[in-house]
Parts: sequence; C-alpha cells; structure tokens
Amino acid sequence: MKYGYFDDNALEYVITTPKTPLPWINYLGNKEFFSLISNTCGGYTFYKDAKLLRLTRYRYNNVPYDNNGKYFYIKDGDTIWNPGWQPVKTALDSYECRHGLGYSTWKSSKNDVQAEVLTFVPMDDNCEVSKVTLTNNRASAAKLTLFSYVEWCLWNADDDMKNFQRNLSTGEVEVTDGGSVIYHKTEYRERRNHYAIYGVNSKVDGFDTSRDAFLGAYNGPDSPDAVKAGKCTGELASGWSPIASHQINVSLNPGESKTFIFTLGYIENPEDAKWEAPGVVNKERAKAMLSKYDNEASVDSALTELKDYWKELLSNYHISSSNEKVDRMVNIWNQYQCMVTFNMSRSASYYESGIGRGMGFRDSCQDLLGFVHLIPDRARQRIIDIASTQFQDGSAYHQYQPLTKKGNSDIGSGFNDDPLWLIAGTSAYIRETGDLSILEEMVPFDNDMSVAKTLMGHLQCSFNFTATHKGPHGLPLIGRADWNDCLNLNCFSEHPGESFQTFGPSEGPVAESVFIAGMFVKYGEEYAQLCELTGDDAEAARAREEVKKVYDAACTAGWDGEWFVRAYDANSNKVGSKECEEGQIYIEPQGFCVLAGIGVEEGLAEKALKSVEERLDTKYGVMILQPAYTKYHLELGEVSSYPPGYKENAGIFCHNNPWISIAETVLGHGNRAFEVYKKTCPAYIEDISEIHCTEPYVYSQMVAGKDAKFFGQGKNSWLTGTAAWTFVNISQYILGVYPTHKGLSINPCVPEDFGDFTITRKYRGATYNIKVKQNGAQKGITKLTVNGREVSGNIIPYEDGIKEYNVEAQLG
Ligand code: BGC
Ligand code: NOJ
Repeated sequence: MKYGYFDDNALEYVITTPKTPLPWINYLGNKEFFSLISNTCGGYTFYKDAKLLRLTRYRYNNVPYDNNGKYFYIKDGDTIWNPGWQPVKTALDSYECRHGLGYSTWKSSKNDVQAEVLTFVPMDDNCEVSKVTLTNNRASAAKLTLFSYVEWCLWNADDDMKNFQRNLSTGEVEVTDGGSVIYHKTEYRERRNHYAIYGVNSKVDGFDTSRDAFLGAYNGPDSPDAVKAGKCTGELASGWSPIASHQINVSLNPGESKTFIFTLGYIENPEDAKWEAPGVVNKERAKAMLSKYDNEASVDSALTELKDYWKELLSNYHISSSNEKVDRMVNIWNQYQCMVTFNMSRSASYYESGIGRGMGFRDSCQDLLGFVHLIPDRARQRIIDIASTQFQDGSAYHQYQPLTKKGNSDIGSGFNDDPLWLIAGTSAYIRETGDLSILEEMVPFDNDMSVAKTLMGHLQCSFNFTATHKGPHGLPLIGRADWNDCLNLNCFSEHPGESFQTFGPSEGPVAESVFIAGMFVKYGEEYAQLCELTGDDAEAARAREEVKKVYDAACTAGWDGEWFVRAYDANSNKVGSKECEEGQIYIEPQGFCVLAGIGVEEGLAEKALKSVEERLDTKYGVMILQPAYTKYHLELGEVSSYPPGYKENAGIFCHNNPWISIAETVLGHGNRAFEVYKKTCPAYIEDISEIHCTEPYVYSQMVAGKDAKFFGQGKNSWLTGTAAWTFVNISQYILGVYPTHKGLSINPCVPEDFGDFTITRKYRGATYNIKVKQNGAQKGITKLTVNGREVSGNIIPYEDGIKEYNVEAQLG
C-alpha cells in the first residue's frame, strides 16, 4: 500500500494522507540552520548544534506521535483545523504534503477554504520562512482567524527537559510591532549572545507568548483555549514556558486569497552591541532579517535560489535509463539523503534525539564517501576536522561535538575500525578531486597543534595502529567494537545500565575482528596508492607487505569452510562460525572481505556469497546474522541483548547490504548485485509502505529480520551510513563509474535485462557524457571510446584542460 507518490519532475515526494504509518519527515537547511519537519508539521529547529542551540521544543517519546511543531490553526466559525492535520486532527476535505529538496509544502482544504503552506530555510540566512496563503472558494465571504504557534526551547535541549527547578523561572520575551514580532531572549541577559524571533509580515490582531495562557492549563496544542475563543490573550511570558503565537483576523471575499509570511530566526549580536537600552535587546539584525523576507517576491526568489542550488548539485551525477526507480533514487533521493547525513551525522532525527551522539568518527568518514562528489570543499574541511580528533598512536575519539569540534571523552576511543575509515574518506576525496595538497596539511592530534603532523602522517598512524594491534591469529584486535558497535568482545557487562560501548577495558589483547582484516586489506591498499602518489615507494611496499600478512590470516584463521568467521572472542573462541550454537554467520566479513578482494582467486569469495544467499537472505534484504541470539551472551555484549530479528541481532541492517551487493559486482554477478540492491531500495518497496512504515524516499538503518514479529518493518530512517554506501554501490559499482587517481573508470555490473543507459558525471571540473551499451551482458567492457578515440582498459585518462569527455562503452 502507498500513501503517496513520487513526482520526479518536481523532485518531490507527494504524501496524500496525513495518516502515514509513522511521521514522514524532511530536513530544511543547508549550512548552519536546520529544521526537521514532518508531514503533519511536527518537528523542531536548531542552529548548528541540535543539543546546545535548539530554538523550538519537541517532545520525543510522547503521545500522540510527533507532538509539537510549527503549527498554524485556522478558526472558521466553530471549525478549527490545521493545514497539516495535526495537532487538532480535524478531518480535512483534502490534504497534500510535498517534501522537496530543502523545502516542504502543504495544500489542504476544509469547508471550501484552502490553505497553502510553504516552509523552507533560505540558502544564506539563519531562519525558516513559512508562506501561508488562505483562499476562500465559497460563494460567500469568509471570516477566518489564523493563529501561528511555536514553543521555544530554552536553548540547551538536554537541560531543557531536565532542569525544571531553574528553567521554569528563566524564560523571557519581548514583543514589538503590536505583536507582529516576538523575541525569545531567555539567558540573553547573562552569557548568551543570541536570541530567537518569530515574526509575521502583517499587522496582527493579537499575540501570545505564554504557553499556559495560550493553551489553558491542562490543555495540549490540540485544543488551545485562545484558538477556541478566537482571541489571543496578549500575555507576556515570565518564566514557565514561553511560546510565540500570532493572531490574524482574515476576511476573504469569494475567490479571494491572502498571503502571510512568517519568519522564525536566530540572531547573534556582538558582545558590545547586545542591548539597545537597558534590558531591551538590540533588534537591528532581526529587523534586517525580517525585512528581507517581508514580501512574496523575495520569498519566491529565495525558494528559486534553493531549488537551483539543488539542481546544480545533483547534476554532478545523473543517470537516464529505462529503470525509473533507479533513476529517481540515483538522481534525487539517494544523493539528497547523503547530504542530510553529511549535515546531521547521527545527531538529530526522529530516532536520534539531537542530545546524544555528536558526530561519529567512523560515521562521518563513511558519509563522506556519499557526498564528496557533491561538495568536495566541505569534504576537505570535514576530513581535517575528523583527523584533528585522532590520537598520536592512530586511535581516535569515537565521536566529537560539531560546535566545538573536540573529541567526546564520555565515549573515548577503542573502536578499532575507526582509524582505517580516515584512510577511506581521504582516499575517496583525493580520487574525486586529485587534490594531493590535503595530505600536506598540518593537522593536530586531539586538537593539540603542538603535536601536529601532516594529514599523510595521520594516515600512517591509522595504518600502523592496525598493523601493530593484532591478536593471536594475526588478525586485527577489535577493542571495544568494530563497525558493529554491538559486538562487544571485551565488555562482559553483567549489570543493567552499564554502557556496552564504554564498560570494560577499551583494549583486549585477544579478541580479533575479521571485519577489520577486510578493511585493512582494502584501505591498506588505498594507503599504499597514496604513498606512491606522494613518491614514497618504500612505504608503499611496506604497506603492501603488512596487507599481505592480514590477507593470509583472513584466508586461514578467518575462514570457516563455507564463509568468513566474524571474530575471535576474548577466549579465542570463534564468533560467527559453524561451531557456534547461535550467530553462526555474520554479513560483515562476507561483504567486506570479498569487496576487498580477499579469497576471490582462492574461490573463497564465491562460497562466502553463496552462504550469504542461502543463510542470510530474505525477501526484505540480507540479515546481519543467523541464527539470531536467543539468549544474552556475556562474552558478546550488546549484539545478543536485542530481541531476535531487531537491530544488530539478526535485523536487516541496510548499511551492510550494499557491501554484499558490491561484493557480488566484484565477482561479476550483476543479476544478484541488483537483486540485493532492490530489496532495501526505498523506491522499490514504496508499495509495501504499510509494512515498511518508514519514509519511502529514504533508507532506514534497519528493517526487522525474519525472526521478529514485525518482519519487514523499518526503523531509524534518514541518518544512516546506508545512504552513502548504497550510493557508492549503485553509482560506482553497479553503474560502474568509479573515480580512480588517474581518472574515471567505467566498469558497470548490471543485471542482464537492465538495458542501455547514459550517465552525466561532473568530475574535476569536466563533464563526462557516458553512454553504455549493455548488449545483455552483466559485466566486462569490450570497447571504450573517449572523444572518438578508442582507449584500452577501463579508465578514461584525465587530462587537465579537457572540459568535455564523450564516452561510449560497450559491454558483452
Ligand atoms: C545501537 C547501535 C549504535 C550504538 C552506539 C547501539 O545501541 O544498536 O546501532 O551504533 O548503540 O550508539
Ligand atoms: C550505527 C552507528 O552509527 C554505526 O557507526 C554503526 O556502525 C552501526 N550502528 C552498526 O552498529
């Protein structure tokens, strides 16, 4: 069942009922000011950091779902309704929500009154603009009252929901222009240099700034007293819970429309210009912001600018094929999700509260793989930021705060896959841009410039960390965990409340990871290539020797007979082996070892992927392990804590499905690679939205596995490494346009019936028009011509100065 449809020409997903199985959200904002917004107008806004600078309140873990947002109420006689249906939930005569790239719209009607709402964050301002148009489609005049409503968060979202003894007394506001502009200035009197505003570009007939006055005691936003009475109270908040609401009485003749523009903004003032008079905030910047968006023409042109920005970005990789669903994911939604994960990391979604994790070291490096072709400059900065949180021995803080860019000592280090992801991200950046100068940048360790090294020096530390932290089988030590945060082989936690991620020693001399072995082989080779490019052949040779040792260990101690072992635990027992009672086979080493090339020549890779197909595959995707753990294993940690079928305990972890798909392309299995791709691909499962539940335009982190009651149900949509990895899979391996140091390589691996396709790819300042003739083959280029000349091999040699490459590739 579907709850909407894709409008590919408009680059939008159109939701046709507010009653989606879960809130279906969108992200607004591109640089520093962001909002999450659901199809029923729920969500919240923050500046830079979802924990420390949150403008509006949201209630996670509340009932009903999706409680609190930016609401507009329309009072029409005795009927009160919202264009987004929530919070009043009056049945609407029509409803349509469109989520576009960085903006959302609603078009709804009730009793022949139509409301259209457009909400977006302009490119270069720290505000969210909402344009609200009311139209009277009746034969008679309509007298309506429009109310806006936002509830302020007292900035630190964590403190805001805990520290009531203080917070209920700190709230302060100012109001100007008869109520048209409401200033939220809590804590501005002391250490803050910022306040928030909510203004409308018209005269108002009333306002409210106190939540209790507007809603009435014991009421929720679904039945505000002020709206029911048709009149705001004009109360000035003092402590308790400040809000902002405007009341506008609107008379409309038959056929008449009126438009109002609301601006929710963040304003920062210099320390010496905070006040215009004692206790009165300096409003100069607020006024400038409000006047910029006080007319429809400038709002429309800001929206056009935003749309143009996206069109330009997405033109960096564009496919046209006979597979509509592939085209829409590649050209629009997958790239969009990659940008959102770049901006948010894992901080703020409907599953991540914005107050927990900051930026993940491993997560951010992987996200980079998906957006580096979109915004290489920002990728460059991101790499430096991430590397600055590394320690001198190559290990790294597992997370850092976006506002301070400092490593987060609550979680610390000890996740032994982390160092190698830095090589992955840096290599992807250089293959994309050719910018070797980044390797010469001086980068601090743990943010301490006195112990800086070049970025190349950091990569060497990363490489050496793994090379020097190996266990009894010559495989890399796992530490607290590797990619699978829940495989905690040194943890041994016996008491509830202990964090699986930080309990126990951060290092263990025995427990080893075959997954990290796969990473070391893949990224060790990428490191060696960087060494060669910078003229250090000796280091490249040394690196390859180290890689060879781990390759061999993976093929021997890491091999179980039919598939790769997952790990060795702290007692040197196998994890993910036929010897185990539960958890006999895990997805990660099968995917990563094979994509790294391990066991391809030896015939192990074929066997490993066959085993995956036989033991882990389901109709909704490939599960992370089987059989699911039915009891808690002290020696394995969190992985066995989840009920069977959920999350890391036999869920379908979408993030590593692309590894399997990529691995299949390495073996030339185009049919199977694409089958794996389709199973978790949002556009392909749109039809089962009632089972899948999460948004049909983005990936979720996890889909419940076959052991779970709700097999096929998605959770944790949006902020997941799945976005980057599926984009890498489809764009670089299945469609086969892969950036190498020498230029783009063309080596598609597609299903037999895929058909011919054309890709436009912008790369190092040139445009590549690539036409692929498939001839029913899955893999293997038989002829490649570039600007009319035939070239041998798969790589289009990059030459400075050539701005256009017309490429024809023949398969089969
Ligand atoms: C989750 C993982 C997550 C980890 C770290 C675990 O509970 O299952 O997916 O990476 O916490 O926050
Ligand atoms: C989510 C985390 O963000 C990611 O870093 C991790 O690899 C997966 N969970 C698997 O545990």
